[in-house]
Amino acid sequence: MASSLLLPLSLSLLLLAFASSSSSSSKFDDLFQPSWALDHFNYNGDTLQLKLDNYSGAGFSSKSKYMFGKVTIQIKLIAGDSAGTVTAYYMSSDGPSHNEFDFEFLGNTTGEPYTVQTNIYVNGVGNREQRLKLWFDPTQDFHSYSIFWNRRQVIFLVDETPVRVHTNMEDKGVPFPGDQSMGVYSSIWNADDWATQGGRVKTDWSHSPFVASYKGFEIDACECPSSYATGGGVANNTACCNGSAADDGKKFWWDEPVLSELNVHQSHQLLWVRANHMIYDYCTDTARFPVTPVECVHHRH
Ligand SMILES: *[C@@H]1O[C@H](CO)[C@@H](O)[C@H](O)[C@H]1NC(C)=O
Ligand SMILES: *[C@@H]1O[C@H](CO)[C@@H](O)[C@H](O)[C@H]1NC(C)=O
Ligand SMILES: *[C@@H]1O[C@H](CO)[C@@H](O)[C@H](O)[C@H]1NC(C)=O
Ligand SMILES: *[C@@H]1O[C@H](CO)[C@@H](O)[C@H](O)[C@H]1NC(C)=O
Repeated sequence: MASSLLLPLSLSLLLLAFASSSSSSSKFDDLFQPSWALDHFNYNGDTLQLKLDNYSGAGFSSKSKYMFGKVTIQIKLIAGDSAGTVTAYYMSSDGPSHNEFDFEFLGNTTGEPYTVQTNIYVNGVGNREQRLKLWFDPTQDFHSYSIFWNRRQVIFLVDETPVRVHTNMEDKGVPFPGDQSMGVYSSIWNADDWATQGGRVKTDWSHSPFVASYKGFEIDACECPSSYATGGGVANNTACCNGSAADDGKKFWWDEPVLSELNVHQSHQLLWVRANHMIYDYCTDTARFPVTPVECVHHRH
């Protein structure tokens, strides 16, 4: 960091941006472990496959919990008929008032597009679904899916294009997920009661096994063991990774002021996604929310 003091600001910002994108990928087993159905895993040291059949799905979780930072995994979704299946990739804290940032990939019949659903839980409450169709076929190649999280915002990114931002609006009385460390998870399961075309299309097990592939696992975040405060069982990791004396005054790249909001280019990208690819936004679902959720009223994008 010392050398960046000597560089012009713009160059340091550039380096900062590179710091995340160039951080080298790790092996699956350095960062993650299977959480269930080991016999539905196939790992060759580079690419991991999770399999869903009529016996079981499968899932994995990070070995550590984290406060803030960025997580990226490259995923190639189930090719062909994936109707009824859900491949989920998310961060979540523990306990009854957990926080959660979700990517859920909802399968479809052959030739019909996947839907990407994102959701955010704060203090155990979700109901913040957004849905979009991607601008590419996510079953043909690996694409990177990232969650960036700092004190000011949570950004969902697809190939580095922001598709959703959840801004800290604690000043408007909206709770923000900032005091519970989170694990990173993925799983594949059958959800044909709701996932595809509203649950009308069921999983066709004659097309199983359904296989999702993963590679390029990157977690650039601060490790923080989950802990529970006394009273209410609510996790409180406020003292973790916060740059205070307890952390030896460590500074983290995601705390840089420039990352407190989207840059101009990213704002334009998000507008483009919302205008061209978004198919559902809870913020505009007045049948479901006669009273517009506060964070939607104050939407800054
Ligand atoms: C799963 O599918 C296989 C082959 O289609 C079939 O033989 C088996 O009975 C099924 N098992 C269950 C639990 O449905
Ligand atoms: C599946 O395809 C249909 C028809 O194109 C579309 O309406 C739907 O949103 C797609 N996604 C899911 C998850 O059903
Ligand atoms: C950081 O943690 C310390 C305790 O180690 C706490 O006193 C302080 O309020 C925390 N700062 C933030 C910004 O949460
Ligand atoms: C969490 O702990 C911090 C001090 O570390 C404290 O300031 C804060 O009020 C606590 N939050 C909750 C919800 O208990």
